[in-house]
Amino acid sequence: MDTLTFILKTTNLTELDLKSLKNRYDQLISLINKYNHEYHTLDNPTISDADYDKLFKQLIEIESISPNLKIDNSPSNRVGNKPLDTFKKVKHKIPMLSLDNSFSDDDLYAFNKRINDKIKSKDSNQIKYVCEPKLDGIAVSIIYIDGKLERASTRGDGNEGEDITENVRTIKNIPLLIPTNDLPHILEVRGEVLITKKGFKNLNSRSIKNKQKTFSNPRNAAAGSLRQLDPKITASRPLMMFAYGIGYIELNDKKINPYFSKKHFETLMKLKKLGFNINQLIKEVDSIPKAISYCKNIQKIRSTLNYEIDGVVIKVNDLNLQEQLGFISRAPRWATAYKFPAEECITKINDIHWQVGRTGAVTPVARLETVNVGGVNVSNATLHNLDELKRLDIKINDFVVVRRAGDVIPKIVKVLKDDRSDNVLEVTPPSICPVCSSKLSRIDGEAVIRCVAGFSCSAQLKESIKHFSSRKALDIDGLGDKIINQLVEKKLIKNIPDLFKLDLETLNTLDRLGPKSSKNLLNSLDASKNTTLPKFIYSLGIREVGEATALILSNKFEDIHSLLKAANNDFKYLNSDIENTSFIKLNDIGPRVARNIINFFNNDYNIQVVNDLLELGIRFSKINQNIKRIFENQVWVITGTLINYTRPQAKELIEAYGGKVSNSISRKTTFLLSGESSGSKLTKAENLGINIIDEDEFIRKMNS
Ligand code: IVH
Repeated sequence: MDTLTFILKTTNLTELDLKSLKNRYDQLISLINKYNHEYHTLDNPTISDADYDKLFKQLIEIESISPNLKIDNSPSNRVGNKPLDTFKKVKHKIPMLSLDNSFSDDDLYAFNKRINDKIKSKDSNQIKYVCEPKLDGIAVSIIYIDGKLERASTRGDGNEGEDITENVRTIKNIPLLIPTNDLPHILEVRGEVLITKKGFKNLNSRSIKNKQKTFSNPRNAAAGSLRQLDPKITASRPLMMFAYGIGYIELNDKKINPYFSKKHFETLMKLKKLGFNINQLIKEVDSIPKAISYCKNIQKIRSTLNYEIDGVVIKVNDLNLQEQLGFISRAPRWATAYKFPAEECITKINDIHWQVGRTGAVTPVARLETVNVGGVNVSNATLHNLDELKRLDIKINDFVVVRRAGDVIPKIVKVLKDDRSDNVLEVTPPSICPVCSSKLSRIDGEAVIRCVAGFSCSAQLKESIKHFSSRKALDIDGLGDKIINQLVEKKLIKNIPDLFKLDLETLNTLDRLGPKSSKNLLNSLDASKNTTLPKFIYSLGIREVGEATALILSNKFEDIHSLLKAANNDFKYLNSDIENTSFIKLNDIGPRVARNIINFFNNDYNIQVVNDLLELGIRFSKINQNIKRIFENQVWVITGTLINYTRPQAKELIEAYGGKVSNSISRKTTFLLSGESSGSKLTKAENLGINIIDEDEFIRKMNS
């Protein structure tokens, strides 16, 4: 019988004598530490949660039967020891320095040159570096004496920090005991403590649920969690550490051994062997150009990482050389932090503009003082609807925080109300359409205001043509926004079918469209007539009918005429008995979408458009489904209020990408898409450890 099986089987601890109890205690500590490391650092558990809990229970039992046996580094302290009154101060034996920053390729070349100049080297390519993500957390120092975690402290002012030993002991992926063979008597490990993006979201959802204050970002959450006088609170927070180097080292004979290893990278690999969590993206590079491409790559994948980073740290690999290079003031000459452009910036609202969309929805768009967010210039940000405007409480001339993460559209996160001056102006929603001056309608209870002028409103005509010609619709190559704008403004087209009546002579009158491009455009207009039924249905721009619904409709109705006929027949049920319509009987079409479809095809103008298009030669070939089925075999649950989509739209999208949408959370749920004010589903998902994602991440997944 192996030790684990034996321990799990013999559970009557009160019968053991002190020696056997101590023996059992030591075995439990080493097993629990091993399984903890497998679970939290290697991500590869080899024991069930239930068996792990049994081991833990025995450990606690021994500590209560015989408190003298309890060691300071007992895994039982991971749940949090007694609360403290204050944090003691701790002096660092070797100061914890900061890093110089670099912001461009040139800065990195200059960094390399400074090093080469300092060591009087002629060959600027001879220095090898290690590149590491610059983690956006809190620096900590952990002292191990003879393999036991003895003291942990914050960086503080670099010379003196605060003693956070008990709190650090609760962090699951920090070893409490490390193997002592070949280990210096004293070893100081340094690293960054952080909370992952997922952990941060779950923590904030929990705080909202308990009506507690939320944290503004993962870094603040990590800092706040580390500086708790009650370690039990720290223990309840999802903290983790990446080790990135060593500090003080002392051998048994009190000699200081500067060479734990000869190279920084080897040091990290040694730390990994000792059980520390080392970032997987860390890489050795043999030149500055390679370090530059590393920076570019990391910047590209930044938004996909589960933790926040704000740059790349580039360090000289050779530790001998590091020592030779030394420091200037507070920063080493042998390292630099290449900082990414900030993804969150403060800027001013210069104006609020009202934009009319394809369906006549009039949405507020903030005109911003141009600001570079995450490397891209941003001058506009949509505010979606009146509710969002009210929620953010935006006024013209306010200062706001703008965020852009990955490829996601810029978003106004909050207004800096404390900085609000007297010259702010209230935002007043328009009373007439800002484009065509027609009256606007607002349905009670809806956040959207609408221009009801249809295609006589040039904004709606332009947007409808853009939609009609887009890639997922008729895919008209060469019909860009600028051409559409001119065609509508010069009144060369008054409706969608007019597109197919264009001739060379008319196109030649447009600015910036040469004879060759005009000819190409006519050819692609002609080619686009050969389409499929779902693409055609989608191209009509029926409200809330996206690609997936268009596909469902085209599967049910063999041709456009039977679809028109069904909509016509169902008109009588529109206001009384929507459940009786042929559309509702189709899977996945709800009453709202059914109403939109019936209304659309009972409108004389729309029927005319469809008939004209058919007469102008639109024809249907067999369906070519090329939607990426990226959510295949996944089960999604949607909860809370989404900003960019209604829930049926989100459902439709998930299904279009091959996923299933369910109403309730179970172990089978792959993702919970969680909007604002989500309630019990969120709690249940948290309890079951289901992946919880927000709308931004959802959009990112669909675009990936
Ligand atoms: S090395 C002198 N490596 O950046 C060497 N620091 O601006 C400094 N940081 O306080 C530490 N990721 O908290 C190093 N891979 C990394 C890092 C890193 C984040 C932080 C660290 C330090 C700050 C210096």
